[in-house]
Amino acid sequence: MSEPVRVGVVGMGTVGSGVVRLLVESADHIERHAGRPIVVAKAVVKDVAKARSVDVPGGHLSADYHDVSRDPSISVAALLVGGLEPARTIMIDLLEHGKDVVTANKALLAEHGPELFELARRKGRSIAFEAAVAGGIPIVAAIGECLAANRIESIRGILNGTSNFILTRMEEDGADYADVLKLAQEKGFAEADPSMDVDGTDATQKLAILAHLAFGVWVPWGEIPRMGIEGIDLGLLRYAAELGYRIRLVAVASRSDGRLAMRVAPALVKQGTPLAETRGAYNAVSIVGDAVGRMFFHGLGAGQMPTASAVVADIIDTVVGRTAITFKTTGVLSADSPAARIAGVDMLERHFLRIRVKDRPGVLARITGILGEHGISIASVIQHDASQAGDATVPLVIMTHPCGSNAIRKAVDHIDAADVVSGRSVCLSVLDE
Ligand code: HSE
Repeated sequence: MSEPVRVGVVGMGTVGSGVVRLLVESADHIERHAGRPIVVAKAVVKDVAKARSVDVPGGHLSADYHDVSRDPSISVAALLVGGLEPARTIMIDLLEHGKDVVTANKALLAEHGPELFELARRKGRSIAFEAAVAGGIPIVAAIGECLAANRIESIRGILNGTSNFILTRMEEDGADYADVLKLAQEKGFAEADPSMDVDGTDATQKLAILAHLAFGVWVPWGEIPRMGIEGIDLGLLRYAAELGYRIRLVAVASRSDGRLAMRVAPALVKQGTPLAETRGAYNAVSIVGDAVGRMFFHGLGAGQMPTASAVVADIIDTVVGRTAITFKTTGVLSADSPAARIAGVDMLERHFLRIRVKDRPGVLARITGILGEHGISIASVIQHDASQAGDATVPLVIMTHPCGSNAIRKAVDHIDAADVVSGRSVCLSVLDE
């Protein structure tokens, strides 16, 4: 029988515990795929005395990651610590000491990817990161390997399970935002700092990684226009439903005229389309390739076992040697990746506007006049009968025909400056397919 491969698991939170469980409970099955047994040699935790839901075989626990990096019998390390530090320091130490690394930490890759990947290359090691994007969906392999023959034209994704879970519960049950967020945390979907889920940071970091794989360019995630779901209220969800849509946090990267347009923002998605039917903690990615056409991937994007599924598959790929081959040939996250400039790139789409206006004569004409001045044509308007006309504000909902994102932004600024408008208007893109 072949010698077992000894793996170090650094971080035993939600995902790390799932990885140990899978390696132990599915050991026979995993051995068949890897061609040799894979054993957990050491698990690194914050507190070795703490009671845990999963037993580490032989009780090989340590509070010091050096017990993995300095152990020459360990060849593969799963780095399952979130956030930037100490994760970056640990990753560097693991690579310096000759470990191949598997990680689920998208923030670390989005922030320090090029530096870490260069170090891995210099050391002749590999980094695998399927679990960093869309949890259990094998989207990194799909874009990086299976669709390699295609020029990718666009990616649209629901990449954050927590915000999708919140939006779905609000829409279906009329549930309160804060209560659903708490539930998502209890279920282990949310980041340690859940503001990164709801403000779009998490989805933006994942989009930066996918766009790199798909388009070969490196876009610092902070440059990608981003809007979270904090401003989405039940009223908006109801108007969207009235028009035949749902609201989802959608990450978009698409090529047009040789330039790349990217953003993460809530958008109206047409009921019945795959993105609109993606519910709960599910993630979805729709990709258009020039040879393959449109493809759709759907699966659990957050949570213990779906993410562990991707981590363990990467461990097997690393043990078998597939990761090293892909890592060498694709030049993924190499320092030579060209930077893409995405600022100001226009996207031509329909838009949904909710404007709070005073219910007075001439107000509708004023608003539609401003849209007309900016060359924006209106497709439909909703204003429900208010009990009393006058100074109370009423929501005015407008759906436009396709118009440029730069034009609509200017028009909304112009509208919000009008004295008949209260507060900031909401402007969301509309995705009809
Ligand atoms: N917090 C993430 C989400 C899971 O809710 O999708 C890990 O990426």
